[in-house]
Amino acid sequence: MSNVRPETMERITTPELANAFIDEQVKEVRAQVGDKKVLLALSGGVDSSVVAALLIKAIGKQLVCVHVNHGLMRKGESEQVIEVFKNQLDANLIYIDATDRFLDLLAGVAEPEKKRKIIGGEFIKVFDEEASKLEGISFLAQGTIYPDILESDGVKAHHNVGGLPEDMQFELVEPVKLLYKDEVRVVGKALGLPASMVDRQPFPGPGLGVRCLGSITRDRLNALREADAILREEFDNAGLNKTVWQYFIAVPDMKSVGVKDSKRYEGWPAIIRAVNTTDAMSATIEEIPYALLHKITARITAEVDGINRVLYDLTPKPIGTIEWE
Ligand code: XMP
Repeated sequence: MSNVRPETMERITTPELANAFIDEQVKEVRAQVGDKKVLLALSGGVDSSVVAALLIKAIGKQLVCVHVNHGLMRKGESEQVIEVFKNQLDANLIYIDATDRFLDLLAGVAEPEKKRKIIGGEFIKVFDEEASKLEGISFLAQGTIYPDILESDGVKAHHNVGGLPEDMQFELVEPVKLLYKDEVRVVGKALGLPASMVDRQPFPGPGLGVRCLGSITRDRLNALREADAILREEFDNAGLNKTVWQYFIAVPDMKSVGVKDSKRYEGWPAIIRAVNTTDAMSATIEEIPYALLHKITARITAEVDGINRVLYDLTPKPIGTIEWE
């Protein structure tokens, strides 16, 4: 398959078009792969999940999925990968909980780019170690999509944390590389993946690592994960998941004084970020109803150990980037 999308290629907007694409790709993949084995790093993000589902349909157990949990996933995400792929789709899935490896390496590291490098480098190491244990793998599948090809001018190079070692000697299988994101989602739905997976917001490769600001500790990372889960639940309930492009919590490495149960209670602030954008190059701030902000504040401060304040970040991009680090 060439890397250029033909002008005649119709935009995939309906289940019918998605099914036609799936049928065509199933044939192509079978022709390419034959009876050989294919390896896929399955992050649980939209692109790798759709590729996994497509390849399971095409070649079943010849696909070996490896899910590396770096300990920086949002609440419930690794569990969902296991539930959907192992339990429901009966995939050949290797789950690696590498939380301790990542968090031990990150201990005491406060500098954002250094954190990114550690996470990216360790991811490759873990994946590489796992790959070398497997026998007879001939192909590597990747969730490359068309914008990745169009933007592979280096601008987003630092984003490709899931990038794999260059010396891996595998032929690539990239069935969705000519699709735009919206088309990948339509194809994912046609393949039967749950909406919560297919409509997922963008999530940085280094995950909560760049939202647990400064040097990461397990207690603050846990607080961040729980607060983030509450934010997502409340946005879902209010229908904001359909209108807000990206929303999350960041927790800085600082404490303020508060009062809880009539006692002094020092805790971290949880900072809400909720932005809209089309291309992530610039972003505007969503108007969130005050009543909802009050509710989220009440829940986070009551339910999350270690958090004693909730702040709402009103800064557009530019001047603020979407992430805090
Ligand atoms: P910024 O913070 O640069 O974010 O305004 C723009 C978009 O990119 C995502 N982002 C990342 N994605 N690895 C990724 O895969 C990263 O290191 C990374 N940093 C930011 C961010 O979530 C937003 O959608």
